[in-house]
Amino acid sequence: MAKSRNWIPVKAAEGVHSRQAHTDLPEGTFEREISKEGFFGPAAFLYHRRPPTGWNDFQGPLRPRAFDLNGLNESQASPWAAPVVLHNKATEIRFWRLDRAMPALARNGDGDQLLFVHRGEGELFCDYGRIAYEAGDYLYLPRGTMWRLRPASETAVLTIEATNTHYTLPDRGLLGPHAIFDPAVLDTPRFDAAFKAHQAEEGVFPVEIKKRGQVSVATYPYNPLDAVGWHGDLAPVRLNVRDVRPVVSARYHLPPSAHTTFVSDRFVVCTFAPRPFETDPGALKVPFFHNNDDFDEVLFYHAGDFFSRDGIDAGMMTFHPSGFTHGPHPKALKKMLVQDKAATDEYAVMIDTRDPLDVGDGAAAVENPAYVDSWKARD
Ligand SMILES: [Fe+2]
Repeated sequence: MAKSRNWIPVKAAEGVHSRQAHTDLPEGTFEREISKEGFFGPAAFLYHRRPPTGWNDFQGPLRPRAFDLNGLNESQASPWAAPVVLHNKATEIRFWRLDRAMPALARNGDGDQLLFVHRGEGELFCDYGRIAYEAGDYLYLPRGTMWRLRPASETAVLTIEATNTHYTLPDRGLLGPHAIFDPAVLDTPRFDAAFKAHQAEEGVFPVEIKKRGQVSVATYPYNPLDAVGWHGDLAPVRLNVRDVRPVVSARYHLPPSAHTTFVSDRFVVCTFAPRPFETDPGALKVPFFHNNDDFDEVLFYHAGDFFSRDGIDAGMMTFHPSGFTHGPHPKALKKMLVQDKAATDEYAVMIDTRDPLDVGDGAAAVENPAYVDSWKARD
């Protein structure tokens, strides 16, 4: 997403400071990054005497939000009926629970669709064939694909739409194309026996087509997933978070952008997967404080022990609007330079949007209003 720009040239320093970001902080200080375009543009690193999240009180619309999506426990037969959690013109994020086979096919005319399976397992049937799904799978569905899920167990899905545009992969630059995940781990649907059996099902098949946020229904007197074959360089793919191999440095805490998995025009989707902590004595072992001045940041906690946040469990989502200073919670901050474990044990999906997000009705119902106070020091 980052464009090359003629940034105003500054190379300056004042007072006591480190020469390397996130490393060898002056004794007793806390580093805060102020940066442009996420972690890609010009940046300044300030060394504060106190944690930059040490407020006594925080009021107003910039406050961070946390939503316990586990509270959204009604099942919806259609993804278009799932509650909207966060949205803007570039994306729409919903949390969808499905406890039986979708009675209708779905088709998103508004953009590419990403399904992140938080819980459950089953099958996806679509124009391109059948593919199984399980917890931890990303399922990418190109705009216009007809599809349905048939769960084998109750399924919970985070849906992330690339409104009016596409998903692509990040540029791996110096790391080379096989870093983070090899393209060979992307699986595509198959025309297998189960797909052919599904094709042979008779009856009336409604297709719920979402376009411009409205749902139209085209009803076929036969199963429209009736292709006898296909070829091309466009298809749904499946990627499990197990197959994400995070890039790490023993001597430097990499920014969250190093974990980018999918890129759209105005947002990115990143995956936090278990990784060893930094071992250099001077390197930060927790995220650095920052304001994310250009991006809204959303984190969905999928599984594990979320090392930089207190009071967060699987199925919760946090939303840090652009401009809100944040960093590790007080308990995590005590381990800023020394961790008692060798590695993180967390899976989380991050959605960073270049434009501000609005909170949907679905999320408002399950908000934890005390989240803003979670940075207050406690023992
Ligand atoms: Fe952040």
